[in-house]
Amino acid sequence: MQRCSRFVIYSQLHKHQEVPKMLLLFLLVLILSTYAYETPCSNTCYHEAEEECPKFNEREKCKLSQTTKNAVLCCHLTSDDVGANSTLLQNLPFNKSSIQKLHFRNVTAKEFYIKSLNTWRPCSLAITDGYIENVTGIFPRGTKLSCLNFSSNSILHFDKTLKYSIRLERLDLSHNNLSDIPYMKSSINITLDISNNKALQCTNLIKTMKQYQITFVNANKTTCLSSNTFSWFNTTEYVSLTKVEQFYEVNF
Ligand SMILES: *[C@@H]1O[C@H](CO)[C@@H](O)[C@H](O)[C@H]1NC(C)=O
Ligand SMILES: *[C@@H]1O[C@H](CO)[C@@H](O)[C@H](O)[C@H]1NC(C)=O
Ligand SMILES: *[C@@H]1O[C@H](CO)[C@@H](O)[C@H](O)[C@H]1NC(C)=O
Ligand SMILES: *[C@@H]1O[C@H](CO)[C@@H](O)[C@H](O)[C@H]1NC(C)=O
Ligand SMILES: *[C@@H]1O[C@H](CO)[C@@H](O)[C@H](O)[C@H]1NC(C)=O
Ligand SMILES: *[C@@H]1O[C@H](CO)[C@@H](O)[C@H](O)[C@H]1NC(C)=O
Ligand SMILES: *[C@@H]1O[C@H](CO)[C@@H](O)[C@H](O)[C@H]1NC(C)=O
Ligand SMILES: *[C@@H]1O[C@H](CO)[C@@H](O)[C@H](O)[C@H]1NC(C)=O
Ligand SMILES: *[C@@H]1O[C@H](CO)[C@@H](O)[C@H](O)[C@H]1NC(C)=O
Repeated sequence: MQRCSRFVIYSQLHKHQEVPKMLLLFLLVLILSTYAYETPCSNTCYHEAEEECPKFNEREKCKLSQTTKNAVLCCHLTSDDVGANSTLLQNLPFNKSSIQKLHFRNVTAKEFYIKSLNTWRPCSLAITDGYIENVTGIFPRGTKLSCLNFSSNSILHFDKTLKYSIRLERLDLSHNNLSDIPYMKSSINITLDISNNKALQCTNLIKTMKQYQITFVNANKTTCLSSNTFSWFNTTEYVSLTKVEQFYEVNF
């Protein structure tokens, strides 16, 4: 409605001007109003407690959140639900374009396929407290993701999953088995939780600090493994993030 009425006003004002100018104006108004009416992604991270999960005897694995608007919680998904050809998440009886927040608790699947999310376009996505080894696939160009939580899953490896996730602000990878931090767009500025990843290599952590603008949370629970082929630290054991940051400031 708004869009049309603005167009009418503009077209009356410029009645006597040539067509190309009017077309430009029309496009401008259209673009501006599209921005104005796109629901904004709030930068809060959606997360539900285990008690909120649908019970095992309930037929559906997913439900609308009782407390958060435009949010869906799914629990106890398996590899059939998050596989390359899965349709479970596509056929849920919710309006995908209005749902902005997703939380999947207790996913048990060696591989989580990003493709299984297909037409969902969440701002906030949490896939937590499950058993996932690898994350396969890439969030598509134009993704609105601003918060991503993969905490507590035993994850070993990410594809270039975050390659196009340029709006990402918050990334929680705590309590996994990562040796490296996932590949990201080099201009990214994020708040990262990489605490409690026992396999994290200091060389990879330092490489990441060089590439991206990172603010660490749970810094005092973040450690990395000093490789014995690399004599930066006089130990092959765990080094605290504080030590790594001190080393980084002196050397880079
Ligand atoms: C991510 O999920 C974990 C585990 O459920 C939770 O403890 C943590 O608060 C969440 N992080 C964010 C940023 O919401
Ligand atoms: C997680 O889901 C599996 C089924 O995939 C179930 O056997 C297990 O009890 C669930 N764990 C929790 C903590 O609910
Ligand atoms: C998915 O479907 C494609 C073709 O439809 C097939 O080649 C592939 O093996 C399937 N993958 C899985 C994991 O079922
Ligand atoms: C789905 O949600 C979008 C955005 O909120 C809305 O524009 C659209 O009308 C909804 N569709 C249905 C079928 O309710
Ligand atoms: C997970 O990734 C690791 C490292 O890339 C690879 O060695 C392993 O085979 C993968 N596991 C699965 C189940 O694909
Ligand atoms: C992840 O690390 C934990 C604790 O170090 C270990 O028990 C588990 O086997 C590891 N998982 C995988 C898939 O490597
Ligand atoms: C990164 O983001 C934080 C807050 O989100 C901001 O304070 C900081 O200035 C940003 N850094 C750069 C280089 O943009
Ligand atoms: C870690 O840091 C937080 C906040 O800076 C502090 O409250 C907490 O006591 C610290 N924990 C340890 C184990 O030092
Ligand atoms: C490592 O050990 C050498 C010799 O013992 C010492 O000179 C150097 O300062 C130590 N480096 C660090 C980072 O502790």
